[in-house]
Amino acid sequence: MTAAAPRMPEAAARHTPQSAVVRCRDVRKSFRGLEVLRGIDFDAYDRRVVSIIGPSGSGKSTLLRCLNHLETIDAGEIWFKDELVGYRRRSADVLQEASHAEIARMRARIGMVFQNFNLFGHMSALDNVASGPIHVKGAPRKQARDRALALLERVGLAEKARSYPRELSGGQQQRVAIARALAMEPELLLMDEPTSSLDPELVGEVSEVIRALASAGTTMIVVTHEIPLARDISDEIAFMADGRVQERGPAQTLFSSSQQPWLRKLAQRG
Ligand SMILES: Nc1ncnc2c1ncn2[C@@H]1O[C@H](COP(=O)(O)OP(=O)(O)OP(=O)(O)O)[C@@H](O)[C@H]1O
Ligand SMILES: [Mg+2]
Repeated sequence: MTAAAPRMPEAAARHTPQSAVVRCRDVRKSFRGLEVLRGIDFDAYDRRVVSIIGPSGSGKSTLLRCLNHLETIDAGEIWFKDELVGYRRRSADVLQEASHAEIARMRARIGMVFQNFNLFGHMSALDNVASGPIHVKGAPRKQARDRALALLERVGLAEKARSYPRELSGGQQQRVAIARALAMEPELLLMDEPTSSLDPELVGEVSEVIRALASAGTTMIVVTHEIPLARDISDEIAFMADGRVQERGPAQTLFSSSQQPWLRKLAQRG
């Protein structure tokens, strides 16, 4: 299989409940009376990539932020493996927000890559990548830095290890950010529009890294407006609109069979 080939389009048929890494059930979220998530049911599976696409304002980023409890939720439940995300159960129908320590422990298992990289400006690329393992996981400094260098090599940036973010292009910064997320050995990687703030000529190098992660079996949820990237890396694509996941399926069938005007328009564009 070439790197560009879609991975296991038949995967959906083989999902078992046991392989769900993320399970969202009727998740609701409002901001000042505006209901942004209006009953989200959404699963993500071990070693699979699901992309989330949909119109601006449909709640994609909000959903992603709820998955690692950067946002609280108003109703419903989110499970990460066998744990409730952000909450503990007080009784059958009462949830209480989890402690800071519990939330931090869970977040350490879920990597996140943001649109705007969010690197530490005062640290070299190497230190950006090594800092999580050292400060969050207590890894020995030498071991963390050796591993950080290996990760920078994996994203094609070993020669930039000593550079500071301001000395790197957007594409290079995003590749450092991906290496930094990987350094924590996440069980799940969330990406929110990882290529959308890049100049067009830099999209390719970041897409290539994401494609390689997908081929290596990294469990990912990727929000993107880059439909070719979504088609390329995803086992399934979920279409969000009006605060709900309206449809999901392998790219081949989602675009051709959907009745959703937004998806049909994309299909016509090719
Ligand atoms: N912290 C917040 N406070 C108030 N409103 C918010 C907040 N975060 C998001 N919203 C609103 O929620 C809605 C959904 O926003 P969200 O960022 O999830 O959309 P999106 O699908 O990611 O859009 P885009 O494709 O443009 O990134 C929007 O109307 C937005 O203005
Ligand atoms: Mg967004």
